[in-house]
Amino acid sequence: KVPLIKLNNGLSMPALGLGTWQGPPGKEAEVGQAVKDAIDVGYRHFDCAHVYGNEKIIGEAIQDKIKEGAVKREELFIVSKVWNTFHRPDLVEPALQETLKNLKLEYLDLYLVHWPHAFKEGSNLHPIDSKTGLFIPSDVDYIDTWKAMEKVNKKGLTKSIGISNFNSKQIERLLKSAEIVPVTNQIECHPYLNQAKLRKFCSDRGITVTSYSPLGSPSRPWQKPGDPDVINDPKIRQIGNKYGKSPAQILLRYNVQLGNSVIPKSSNKERLLQNLSVFDFELNADDMKYIDTFDCNGRICPQAEDFLTPSYLDMNEHMSHII
Ligand code: A2P
Repeated sequence: KVPLIKLNNGLSMPALGLGTWQGPPGKEAEVGQAVKDAIDVGYRHFDCAHVYGNEKIIGEAIQDKIKEGAVKREELFIVSKVWNTFHRPDLVEPALQETLKNLKLEYLDLYLVHWPHAFKEGSNLHPIDSKTGLFIPSDVDYIDTWKAMEKVNKKGLTKSIGISNFNSKQIERLLKSAEIVPVTNQIECHPYLNQAKLRKFCSDRGITVTSYSPLGSPSRPWQKPGDPDVINDPKIRQIGNKYGKSPAQILLRYNVQLGNSVIPKSSNKERLLQNLSVFDFELNADDMKYIDTFDCNGRICPQAEDFLTPSYLDMNEHMSHII
Protein backbone atom coordinates (compact mmCIF):
# COMPACT_ATOMS: atom_id res chain seq x y z
CA LYS A 1 0.00 0.00 0.00
CA VAL A 2 1.38 3.39 -1.03
CA PRO A 3 1.33 5.95 1.82
CA LEU A 4 -0.37 9.30 1.31
CA ILE A 5 1.28 12.70 1.57
CA LYS A 6 -0.80 15.39 3.23
CA LEU A 7 -1.27 18.56 1.18
CA ASN A 8 -1.71 22.10 2.53
CA ASN A 9 -5.39 22.15 1.46
CA GLY A 10 -6.35 19.11 3.55
CA LEU A 11 -6.28 16.68 0.61
CA SER A 12 -3.57 14.07 0.11
CA MET A 13 -1.62 12.48 -2.71
CA PRO A 14 -0.03 9.03 -3.05
CA ALA A 15 3.71 9.14 -2.32
CA LEU A 16 4.46 7.24 -5.54
CA GLY A 17 2.97 7.51 -9.00
CA LEU A 18 3.69 6.67 -12.60
CA GLY A 19 5.53 9.15 -14.80
CA THR A 20 4.05 9.08 -18.29
CA TRP A 21 6.54 10.88 -20.50
CA GLN A 22 7.48 8.16 -22.95
CA GLY A 23 10.48 9.55 -24.74
CA PRO A 24 10.80 10.29 -28.43
CA PRO A 25 7.71 10.26 -30.66
CA GLY A 26 6.70 6.82 -31.84
CA LYS A 27 6.65 5.32 -28.37
CA GLU A 28 3.35 6.95 -27.37
CA ALA A 29 1.35 3.73 -27.67
CA GLU A 30 3.42 2.01 -25.00
CA VAL A 31 1.98 4.26 -22.37
CA GLY A 32 -1.55 2.82 -22.67
CA GLN A 33 -0.38 -0.64 -21.71
CA ALA A 34 1.91 0.80 -19.02
CA VAL A 35 -1.02 2.63 -17.41
CA LYS A 36 -3.19 -0.51 -17.48
CA ASP A 37 -0.39 -2.65 -16.03
CA ALA A 38 0.30 0.01 -13.42
CA ILE A 39 -3.34 0.05 -12.29
CA ASP A 40 -3.28 -3.76 -12.11
CA VAL A 41 -0.21 -3.82 -9.87
CA GLY A 42 -1.55 -1.06 -7.61
CA TYR A 43 -0.56 2.38 -8.93
CA ARG A 44 -3.20 5.05 -8.29
CA HIS A 45 -1.25 8.24 -9.01
CA PHE A 46 -0.54 9.19 -12.65
CA ASP A 47 1.57 12.14 -13.68
CA CYS A 48 0.54 13.44 -17.11
CA ALA A 49 1.04 16.57 -19.19
CA HIS A 50 -0.54 18.02 -22.31
CA VAL A 51 2.87 18.39 -23.93
CA TYR A 52 3.65 14.66 -23.63
CA GLY A 53 1.13 14.19 -26.45
CA ASN A 54 -0.33 11.01 -24.97
CA GLU A 55 -3.22 12.09 -22.74
CA LYS A 56 -5.80 10.55 -25.11
CA ILE A 57 -4.14 7.15 -24.91
CA ILE A 58 -3.88 7.44 -21.13
CA GLY A 59 -7.53 8.49 -20.90
CA GLU A 60 -8.61 5.43 -22.84
CA ALA A 61 -6.51 3.12 -20.68
CA ILE A 62 -7.97 4.59 -17.48
CA GLN A 63 -11.51 4.34 -18.83
CA ASP A 64 -10.97 0.69 -19.79
CA LYS A 65 -9.82 -0.10 -16.28
CA ILE A 66 -12.72 1.80 -14.68
CA LYS A 67 -15.21 -0.04 -16.94
CA GLU A 68 -13.54 -3.33 -16.08
CA GLY A 69 -14.13 -2.58 -12.42
CA ALA A 70 -10.40 -2.69 -11.61
CA VAL A 71 -10.48 0.80 -10.10
CA LYS A 72 -12.85 3.67 -9.36
CA ARG A 73 -12.25 7.26 -10.49
CA GLU A 74 -12.23 8.51 -6.90
CA GLU A 75 -9.42 6.09 -6.03
CA LEU A 76 -7.19 7.67 -8.65
CA PHE A 77 -4.98 10.74 -8.32
CA ILE A 78 -4.55 12.23 -11.78
CA VAL A 79 -2.12 15.07 -12.41
CA SER A 80 -1.63 17.18 -15.53
CA LYS A 81 0.17 20.40 -16.41
CA VAL A 82 -0.64 23.57 -18.31
CA TRP A 83 1.85 23.98 -21.13
CA ASN A 84 4.00 27.09 -21.67
CA THR A 85 2.00 28.30 -24.69
CA PHE A 86 -1.20 28.46 -22.63
CA HIS A 87 -0.03 30.75 -19.80
CA ARG A 88 -2.22 33.69 -20.85
CA PRO A 89 -4.99 33.73 -18.24
CA ASP A 90 -7.80 33.30 -20.79
CA LEU A 91 -6.08 30.17 -22.18
CA VAL A 92 -5.70 28.27 -18.92
CA GLU A 93 -9.24 26.97 -18.56
CA PRO A 94 -9.52 25.92 -22.24
CA ALA A 95 -6.17 24.10 -21.87
CA LEU A 96 -7.47 22.28 -18.81
CA GLN A 97 -10.74 21.45 -20.57
CA GLU A 98 -8.78 19.96 -23.46
CA THR A 99 -6.78 17.83 -21.03
CA LEU A 100 -9.97 16.70 -19.28
CA LYS A 101 -11.49 15.76 -22.63
CA ASN A 102 -8.39 13.81 -23.63
CA LEU A 103 -8.14 12.05 -20.27
CA LYS A 104 -11.93 11.43 -20.28
CA LEU A 105 -12.25 12.93 -16.81
CA GLU A 106 -14.60 15.43 -15.20
CA TYR A 107 -11.94 16.80 -12.87
CA LEU A 108 -8.21 16.54 -12.22
CA ASP A 109 -6.76 15.88 -8.80
CA LEU A 110 -3.87 18.24 -9.44
CA TYR A 111 -3.08 20.75 -12.18
CA LEU A 112 0.42 22.20 -12.36
CA VAL A 113 2.04 25.12 -14.14
CA HIS A 114 4.55 23.01 -16.10
CA TRP A 115 7.29 25.69 -16.22
CA PRO A 116 7.50 29.27 -14.95
CA HIS A 117 8.31 30.58 -18.44
CA ALA A 118 5.62 31.37 -21.01
CA PHE A 119 6.11 30.72 -24.71
CA LYS A 120 4.48 32.53 -27.62
CA GLU A 121 0.80 31.61 -27.75
CA GLY A 122 -0.52 29.63 -30.70
CA SER A 123 -1.05 26.11 -31.95
CA ASN A 124 2.70 25.36 -32.10
CA LEU A 125 3.66 23.94 -28.69
CA HIS A 126 7.35 24.55 -29.45
CA PRO A 127 7.58 27.99 -31.06
CA ILE A 128 11.24 28.30 -32.00
CA ASP A 129 12.92 31.33 -33.53
CA SER A 130 14.51 30.00 -36.72
CA LYS A 131 17.36 32.49 -36.49
CA THR A 132 18.46 31.82 -32.93
CA GLY A 133 17.10 28.31 -32.43
CA LEU A 134 15.66 29.45 -29.11
CA PHE A 135 12.09 29.31 -27.86
CA ILE A 136 10.08 32.45 -28.49
CA PRO A 137 8.94 33.80 -25.14
CA SER A 138 5.63 35.42 -24.34
CA ASP A 139 5.46 38.27 -21.85
CA VAL A 140 2.75 36.65 -19.74
CA ASP A 141 3.74 36.70 -16.08
CA TYR A 142 3.26 33.46 -14.14
CA ILE A 143 1.62 35.58 -11.44
CA ASP A 144 -1.27 36.13 -13.85
CA THR A 145 -1.26 32.48 -14.93
CA TRP A 146 -1.56 31.53 -11.27
CA LYS A 147 -4.68 33.71 -10.86
CA ALA A 148 -6.28 31.68 -13.66
CA MET A 149 -5.13 28.47 -11.93
CA GLU A 150 -6.90 29.66 -8.76
CA LYS A 151 -10.08 30.19 -10.78
CA VAL A 152 -10.14 26.66 -12.25
CA ASN A 153 -9.43 25.31 -8.77
CA LYS A 154 -12.36 27.23 -7.30
CA LYS A 155 -14.57 26.03 -10.15
CA GLY A 156 -13.79 22.45 -9.17
CA LEU A 157 -12.14 21.50 -12.46
CA THR A 158 -9.12 20.46 -10.42
CA LYS A 159 -9.03 19.58 -6.72
CA SER A 160 -5.58 21.07 -6.17
CA ILE A 161 -3.15 23.33 -8.00
CA GLY A 162 0.63 23.43 -7.99
CA ILE A 163 3.77 24.37 -9.84
CA SER A 164 6.67 22.63 -11.52
CA ASN A 165 10.27 23.68 -12.18
CA PHE A 166 9.96 26.82 -10.04
CA ASN A 167 13.01 28.05 -8.15
CA SER A 168 12.85 29.68 -4.71
CA LYS A 169 12.84 33.25 -6.07
CA GLN A 170 9.95 32.48 -8.37
CA ILE A 171 8.02 30.81 -5.55
CA GLU A 172 8.65 33.72 -3.21
CA ARG A 173 7.34 36.12 -5.81
CA LEU A 174 4.31 33.92 -6.52
CA LEU A 175 3.42 33.64 -2.84
CA LYS A 176 3.35 37.44 -2.45
CA SER A 177 0.22 37.62 -4.59
CA ALA A 178 -1.17 34.08 -4.38
CA GLU A 179 -4.48 33.51 -2.69
CA ILE A 180 -3.99 29.75 -2.88
CA VAL A 181 -0.59 28.31 -1.94
CA PRO A 182 0.60 25.66 -4.45
CA VAL A 183 0.30 22.17 -2.93
CA THR A 184 3.47 20.92 -4.60
CA ASN A 185 6.48 21.94 -6.65
CA GLN A 186 7.45 19.19 -9.08
CA ILE A 187 11.21 19.26 -9.68
CA GLU A 188 14.12 17.05 -10.69
CA CYS A 189 15.34 15.25 -7.56
CA HIS A 190 17.65 12.26 -7.04
CA PRO A 191 20.88 11.64 -5.09
CA TYR A 192 23.03 13.59 -7.60
CA LEU A 193 20.70 16.62 -7.26
CA ASN A 194 18.98 16.20 -3.94
CA GLN A 195 17.63 19.77 -3.84
CA ALA A 196 18.21 20.15 -0.08
CA LYS A 197 17.83 23.95 -0.17
CA LEU A 198 14.76 24.08 -2.39
CA ARG A 199 13.12 21.23 -0.46
CA LYS A 200 13.56 23.10 2.82
CA PHE A 201 12.34 26.32 1.21
CA CYS A 202 9.21 24.56 -0.03
CA SER A 203 8.52 22.65 3.17
CA ASP A 204 8.85 25.84 5.27
CA ARG A 205 6.01 27.24 3.16
CA GLY A 206 3.76 24.17 3.27
CA ILE A 207 4.62 23.11 -0.28
CA THR A 208 5.42 19.44 -0.87
CA VAL A 209 8.00 18.30 -3.41
CA THR A 210 7.26 15.85 -6.20
CA SER A 211 10.43 14.36 -7.67
CA TYR A 212 10.76 13.75 -11.38
CA SER A 213 13.60 11.76 -12.95
CA PRO A 214 14.06 9.96 -9.61
CA LEU A 215 16.01 7.20 -11.38
CA GLY A 216 18.13 9.74 -13.24
CA SER A 217 16.16 9.15 -16.48
CA PRO A 218 18.60 6.47 -17.67
CA SER A 219 17.25 6.40 -21.23
CA ARG A 220 17.01 10.14 -21.85
CA PRO A 221 17.80 10.86 -25.50
CA TRP A 222 20.36 13.58 -24.80
CA GLN A 223 22.61 11.51 -22.52
CA LYS A 224 26.30 11.65 -23.49
CA PRO A 225 29.11 9.36 -22.31
CA GLY A 226 30.36 10.53 -18.93
CA ASP A 227 27.11 12.28 -18.00
CA PRO A 228 25.60 11.62 -14.55
CA ASP A 229 24.23 8.06 -14.39
CA VAL A 230 22.99 7.59 -10.87
CA ILE A 231 21.20 4.26 -11.37
CA ASN A 232 24.53 2.66 -12.36
CA ASP A 233 26.52 4.20 -9.51
CA PRO A 234 28.36 1.31 -7.80
CA LYS A 235 27.76 2.93 -4.40
CA ILE A 236 23.99 2.76 -4.96
CA ARG A 237 24.34 -0.85 -6.07
CA GLN A 238 26.33 -1.65 -2.91
CA ILE A 239 23.62 -0.19 -0.68
CA GLY A 240 21.08 -2.19 -2.69
CA ASN A 241 23.03 -5.39 -2.03
CA LYS A 242 22.98 -4.66 1.68
CA TYR A 243 19.17 -4.31 1.75
CA GLY A 244 18.49 -6.96 -0.89
CA LYS A 245 16.98 -4.29 -3.18
CA SER A 246 17.70 -3.07 -6.71
CA PRO A 247 19.44 0.27 -7.39
CA ALA A 248 16.09 1.68 -8.59
CA GLN A 249 14.46 0.71 -5.30
CA ILE A 250 17.24 2.41 -3.31
CA LEU A 251 16.84 5.59 -5.39
CA LEU A 252 13.08 5.61 -4.92
CA ARG A 253 13.23 4.78 -1.23
CA TYR A 254 15.76 7.58 -0.68
CA ASN A 255 13.38 10.04 -2.30
CA VAL A 256 10.37 8.77 -0.35
CA GLN A 257 12.30 9.07 2.92
CA LEU A 258 13.13 12.68 2.04
CA GLY A 259 9.36 13.16 2.29
CA ASN A 260 8.80 13.57 -1.43
CA SER A 261 6.24 12.12 -3.74
CA VAL A 262 8.05 10.30 -6.52
CA ILE A 263 7.01 9.50 -10.11
CA PRO A 264 9.28 6.95 -11.80
CA LYS A 265 8.43 6.00 -15.37
CA SER A 266 8.41 2.43 -16.62
CA SER A 267 6.73 0.57 -19.46
CA ASN A 268 7.73 -2.81 -18.12
CA LYS A 269 5.36 -4.68 -15.80
CA GLU A 270 8.11 -6.21 -13.66
CA ARG A 271 9.84 -2.89 -13.19
CA LEU A 272 6.49 -1.21 -12.49
CA LEU A 273 5.97 -3.63 -9.62
CA GLN A 274 9.58 -3.36 -8.47
CA ASN A 275 9.31 0.43 -8.33
CA LEU A 276 6.11 0.24 -6.30
CA SER A 277 7.71 -2.15 -3.81
CA VAL A 278 9.63 0.39 -1.78
CA PHE A 279 7.40 0.59 1.27
CA ASP A 280 8.48 -2.63 2.98
CA PHE A 281 11.97 -1.52 3.99
CA GLU A 282 13.72 1.53 5.37
CA LEU A 283 17.15 3.00 4.72
CA ASN A 284 18.83 3.64 8.06
CA ALA A 285 19.86 7.17 9.06
CA ASP A 286 23.54 6.56 8.27
CA ASP A 287 22.75 5.35 4.77
CA MET A 288 20.44 8.32 4.17
CA LYS A 289 23.25 10.67 5.27
CA TYR A 290 25.73 8.77 3.08
CA ILE A 291 23.47 9.09 0.01
CA ASP A 292 23.04 12.80 0.80
CA THR A 293 26.79 13.17 0.18
CA PHE A 294 26.40 12.01 -3.45
CA ASP A 295 24.88 15.39 -4.29
CA CYS A 296 27.03 16.92 -7.05
CA ASN A 297 24.81 19.33 -8.96
CA GLY A 298 24.21 16.41 -11.32
CA ARG A 299 21.28 18.00 -13.08
CA ILE A 300 20.11 16.08 -16.13
CA CYS A 301 17.07 18.08 -17.20
CA PRO A 302 17.13 21.72 -18.26
CA GLN A 303 16.19 24.53 -15.95
CA ALA A 304 13.44 26.86 -17.09
CA GLU A 305 15.80 29.72 -17.95
CA ASP A 306 17.81 27.39 -20.21
CA PHE A 307 14.98 27.48 -22.74
CA LEU A 308 15.53 31.14 -23.42
CA THR A 309 19.32 31.30 -23.45
CA PRO A 310 21.99 29.77 -25.69
CA SER A 311 22.93 27.27 -22.96
CA TYR A 312 19.89 25.37 -24.10
CA LEU A 313 21.00 25.08 -27.72
CA ASP A 314 23.04 21.89 -27.46
CA MET A 315 20.03 20.09 -26.01
CA ASN A 316 17.65 21.68 -28.43
CA GLU A 317 17.29 18.87 -30.92
CA HIS A 318 16.16 16.52 -28.18
CA MET A 319 14.16 18.89 -26.09
CA SER A 320 10.98 19.13 -28.08
CA HIS A 321 10.44 15.52 -27.05
CA ILE A 322 10.90 15.84 -23.34
CA ILE A 323 9.29 18.97 -22.08
P1 A2P B 1 11.58 1.03 -18.75
O1 A2P B 1 10.38 1.85 -19.14
O2 A2P B 1 12.04 0.13 -19.83
O3 A2P B 1 11.39 0.33 -17.42
P2 A2P B 1 12.95 8.25 -14.76
O4 A2P B 1 11.64 7.94 -14.12
O5 A2P B 1 14.01 8.68 -13.79
O6 A2P B 1 12.80 9.24 -15.90
O7 A2P B 1 13.52 6.90 -15.42
C1 A2P B 1 12.79 6.22 -16.40
C2 A2P B 1 13.70 5.23 -17.10
O8 A2P B 1 14.18 4.27 -16.13
C3 A2P B 1 13.05 4.44 -18.20
O9 A2P B 1 14.00 4.34 -19.24
C4 A2P B 1 12.77 3.10 -17.57
O10 A2P B 1 12.83 2.07 -18.54
C5 A2P B 1 13.90 2.95 -16.59
N1 A2P B 1 13.49 2.17 -15.40
C6 A2P B 1 12.30 2.24 -14.76
N2 A2P B 1 12.29 1.43 -13.70
C7 A2P B 1 13.48 0.83 -13.65
C8 A2P B 1 14.06 -0.14 -12.79
N3 A2P B 1 13.38 -0.63 -11.75
N4 A2P B 1 15.33 -0.57 -13.05
C9 A2P B 1 16.01 -0.07 -14.11
N5 A2P B 1 15.52 0.85 -14.97
C10 A2P B 1 14.27 1.30 -14.75
